[in-house]
Amino acid sequence: MRIADFALERYFARWEFAVEHVLCGSDVEGWRMADLLALADPESAALWADLKLGYTESTGHPLLRAEIAGLYEGLEADDVLVFAGAEEAVFCLFNTAIGPGDHLIVTWPGYQSLYEVARAAGAEVSLHALLEHDGWSLDVERLRRSIRPTTRMVVVNAPHNPTGMLPTQAEWQELATTCADAGIHLIADEVYRYLEVDAADRLAAGAELGPSFVSLGVLSKSFALAGLRIGWLATRDRPLLDRCTRLKDYTTICSSAPSEILGLIALRARDQVLARSQEIVAANLALLDDFFERRADALTWVRPRGGSTAFPRLVPSGPAGASAEAFCSRLVEATGVLLLPSTTFGFGDGHVRLGFGRTDMPEALGKLEAFLDAGG
Ligand SMILES: Cc1ncc(COP(=O)(O)O)c(C=O)c1O
Repeated sequence: MRIADFALERYFARWEFAVEHVLCGSDVEGWRMADLLALADPESAALWADLKLGYTESTGHPLLRAEIAGLYEGLEADDVLVFAGAEEAVFCLFNTAIGPGDHLIVTWPGYQSLYEVARAAGAEVSLHALLEHDGWSLDVERLRRSIRPTTRMVVVNAPHNPTGMLPTQAEWQELATTCADAGIHLIADEVYRYLEVDAADRLAAGAELGPSFVSLGVLSKSFALAGLRIGWLATRDRPLLDRCTRLKDYTTICSSAPSEILGLIALRARDQVLARSQEIVAANLALLDDFFERRADALTWVRPRGGSTAFPRLVPSGPAGASAEAFCSRLVEATGVLLLPSTTFGFGDGHVRLGFGRTDMPEALGKLEAFLDAGG
């Protein structure tokens, strides 16, 4: 297989574990193992204590699948397939469901594998550009016009990385109706679901809206458990899941046994797990509101409607300068604070991704501001 480098991952490979503050992470501050285990209900505590480190069921632990299915109205355990993170799910989905001659529409700027894996599988991809001057919003009418007879999938990540875009309830319904009418799979990357700024804006999950629609989920982001590498596809389209299961035999075969039980514990205690994440994100967002008001000379933003990332623009005449790449490089060398330039999204050189899911964000933001004060 030939596939372009994953630019964001290459950038992280260079910096993520070499810096003091990752101010561009998309995950929420990971749980400490002991704190998570303290949440275990009696059944999962016993499963943890007695766990044998053998192979696990290829489709995922039955209790874990049932718990994941419980996140979706009207879905059952057999409508869920567990993967090593959302990334493996993306890989298996696009390598089994589409190929040469197929066309996809994918929101952009965005998570590169959502379009790169499809391209590598031979499909043609149209990027649906989110426009900053429209508040990065999803333009369903424009998206509809890019549908072709060969369009097989519309891929929307919402809440969106990196912009924080979240369609309105009306836009989401309209998109679902458009896809259903055209016989197209709606692939909803919902890895930031439950991190809506206003909980009333939480959308129905993609898988709930149509029998061939697919929800992509993971424990990495809103559940703050990226190290477990537990992700999933949820859909009532069982033949689609079956094809993914058969490819998974060639990737990881099955999930990590400890991760499955830890994931089960987290999902059963999801009210507490999600509340912690929502609190971290809300407190950081309040600090960012003040920061962007104070530092409009350097950076301007569209306030996210959900998720844990924002995509501010550099003010070329200000202390950050005109090049995101150059600014990020100066910043990290001088302060140990890592921002992500928009070049890693193939989206010009004028924006940076800023993550607000980490508990060191206040300190990192202070260092960023001091750096701007000193002239950038
Ligand atoms: C939109 C989106 N989808 C999927 C993923 C993959 O998640 P994971 O790395 O946990 O597999 C990410 C990770 O950043 C993401 O931002």
